[in-house]
Amino acid sequence: MKKVTALARRFVAGLTAEEALPSVKALNDLGIRTTLTVLGENVTAREEATRAVEEVLRLLDLVRDRGVDSNVSIKLTQMGLDIGEDFCLENAMRVVEKAAETENFIRLDMEGPKYTAATLDVFRRIFAERKNVGVVIQAMLHRSEADVADLLALGARMRLCKGAYKVPPSLAHRSKKDIARAYTGLLENLLASGLYHGVATHDEALIRWTLDHVDAKSIDARSFEFQMLYGMRRKRQIDLARQGFNVRCYVPYGTHWFPYFSRRLRERKENIFFVLRNLFTDS
Ligand code: FDA
Repeated sequence: MKKVTALARRFVAGLTAEEALPSVKALNDLGIRTTLTVLGENVTAREEATRAVEEVLRLLDLVRDRGVDSNVSIKLTQMGLDIGEDFCLENAMRVVEKAAETENFIRLDMEGPKYTAATLDVFRRIFAERKNVGVVIQAMLHRSEADVADLLALGARMRLCKGAYKVPPSLAHRSKKDIARAYTGLLENLLASGLYHGVATHDEALIRWTLDHVDAKSIDARSFEFQMLYGMRRKRQIDLARQGFNVRCYVPYGTHWFPYFSRRLRERKENIFFVLRNLFTDS
C-alpha cells in the first residue's frame, strides 16, 4: 500500500498544500501557471464539506502569501452537492468570494453525468454575482454544444476537456474520432469568442490542431491557455511555454487521491504500465 501511495505521487503533488507548493513554484519558474486542487469528491457529511471549504480558503491565502501564480479548481460534490444544491452553492460561493478578496479565480471542475446540470446551475447562480469563476465542458457529451452556446452568451470562461467519467452511450460520443471531432468543433467556437478559455488535453493531434487553427485565423496566441495535468507530458508543457503560449498545469494534492489516481490509470494504458512496472520492481 505504501508503494501505491508513493506511485500516486507521480500524479499528486503532495498530501498537504505545503508539500504541493514547491512544485507550483518550480512550474512557475518554468513559465507555467498552475491550478491547485484539494483532492476530494462525493462527500456525504456536512462537516466534511465544511472542512473542504476551509482548506480551500486556507489555500487561497497561502497562494497569495507565497506569491505563486496559481488559481484553484474545486469539485462541487466536495462542496456538498450530494447533500443539497443550496448547501453546495453557499459553500462554493464562500470560496469564490474569498478568491475575489485574494484576487484569484475559481474553476468548477465537471464531474460525472449525474452532476452536469446541477454543476452548470450552481455555476450560473454564482456567475450572476461574481465573475472570477469558470466552469468545465466535456466534449464527449452531446449536450455540450448547447451548453457552450449558452455559456458563451453569458460571457463565461470555460475549460474544454474530453471528459473523464463513464457516461451512458445515449448521452455521449463513443469513438475517439467522434470525441476529437466534437472537441475541435467546440474549440473553434471558444477560440472565436474573444474570451479567455482553457484547452485541456494531452492529445498531440488536438494540440497541433489548436496551433494550426490559431495561426490560420490569426488568433492571438495569448488569448487562451493550454492546460495539462501534473505528471503528464511535462516536456510538452515546458516547450509550449517556451514558445510563448500560456500553459497551466492542474496540480492536485491531498489524502483523498484514490479516485483521481484511478481516472488517470483508466484513461491511459501507459499510466497503468508505469504503475505495474514500478510495483513489481524492487527499488
Ligand atoms: P487522451 O488521454 O485521450 O490521449 C490521446 C492521445 O494523446 C494519446 O493516444 C497520445 O497520442 C497522446 N497523449 C496523451 N497523453 C500523453 C502523454 N502523457 N505523453 C505523450 N502522448 C500523450 N475531465 C473531466 O471530466 N472533468 C474535468 O473537470 C477535467 N479537468 C481536466 C483538467 C485538465 C487540466 C486536463 C488536462 C484534463 C481534465 N480532465 C477533466 C480529463 C479529461 O477529460 C481527459 O480524461 C484526459 O485529459 C485525457 O484526455 P486527453 O485529451 O488528455 O488525451
